[in-house]
Amino acid sequence: MTTAGLVDGFGRRHTDLRISVTDRCNLRCTYCMPLEVQFKPREELLRFEEIARVTRVAAGLGVRTIRLTGGEPLLRRDLAELVRQLVAVPGIEEVALTTNGLLLAEQAADLRDAGLARLNVSLDSLTAAGFERLARRPGLDRVLAGLEAARSVGFPTIRLNAVSIRGLTEPDVVPLARFCRRHGFHLRFIEFMPLDAEAAWDRGQVLSGAEVRGILEREIGPLVADAGTDPGQPALDYHWSDGGRVGFINPVTRPFCDRCDRVRLTADGQLRNCLFSTVEWDVRGLLRSAVDDARIAAVIRECVAAKRAAHGIDTPAFERPERAMYQIGG
Ligand code: 5AD
Ligand code: SF4
Repeated sequence: MTTAGLVDGFGRRHTDLRISVTDRCNLRCTYCMPLEVQFKPREELLRFEEIARVTRVAAGLGVRTIRLTGGEPLLRRDLAELVRQLVAVPGIEEVALTTNGLLLAEQAADLRDAGLARLNVSLDSLTAAGFERLARRPGLDRVLAGLEAARSVGFPTIRLNAVSIRGLTEPDVVPLARFCRRHGFHLRFIEFMPLDAEAAWDRGQVLSGAEVRGILEREIGPLVADAGTDPGQPALDYHWSDGGRVGFINPVTRPFCDRCDRVRLTADGQLRNCLFSTVEWDVRGLLRSAVDDARIAAVIRECVAAKRAAHGIDTPAFERPERAMYQIGG
């Protein structure tokens, strides 16, 4: 296999593959899903052996890290078995997972045993009312139990992701930060992106990372930017003088497209070169016809080669993708 790697037309090398394993979810977050959903029929979702095959081919092209997403990935039966298969793929250095945490208490130990390296748990509010306003279903207590379980089975770093929406999430900023400082979780605030299913996003609802940082500095204390943050990392990480940490992922106000190293595979087997991609490459069709790995590799290359310079959310030419977040994978 070639060693050239997955380099696009702008010189960006792609080493991270984000794999959605289901479009289903046990929450209905306003920024991601419609309230009434039509999920993909099971036979349209990639099977574990199909996902493992794409991963093997991608690893041969230079992919080193895998992140499993959804929908809610823990709804996919026996996910730990998939983790085990992906961890074993030569070239793959790390398998991570983004989850809403509702089913984590039950699965944390199995996932750890399977070799899962990292966990990101999405949590926007620490009050039942705040949680339900965004998630449109209850579940806060289960997420908290999931976090505790993740900690007790020995996950070294546990990240919390909180989406920031103006007029909605401001009251949650300080409690989330205090909670994470107390428990040693690494909190990251993510700006609201135009990927909600109801297309209600507008620029004015984006509560910027800088504004959230302002709230934290006012209420808790001055923040210092971490020295030597990995330039390939989309997050801006900060710490307080007493050691507490917080990060900001600002895809709208500070796009990190110029350093993007990600490709995405949807649960129904479509490759995308960007969250905001309006074009997809059908891998499921290839997997289910008798093609060899070289053909799959060629399609992955083609997808990466066609990547645009930037998402352009703030430009007049911006076009929302047809898929919402739950149909892509975060
Ligand atoms: N904007 C920003 N973040 C989002 N997420 C889901 N939808 C959006 C959106 N429209 C986040 C989830 C999760 C991660 C996968 O993406 O909260 O943490
Ligand atoms: Fe589910 Fe995550 Fe989407 Fe919320 S953001 S609806 S938890 S997939």
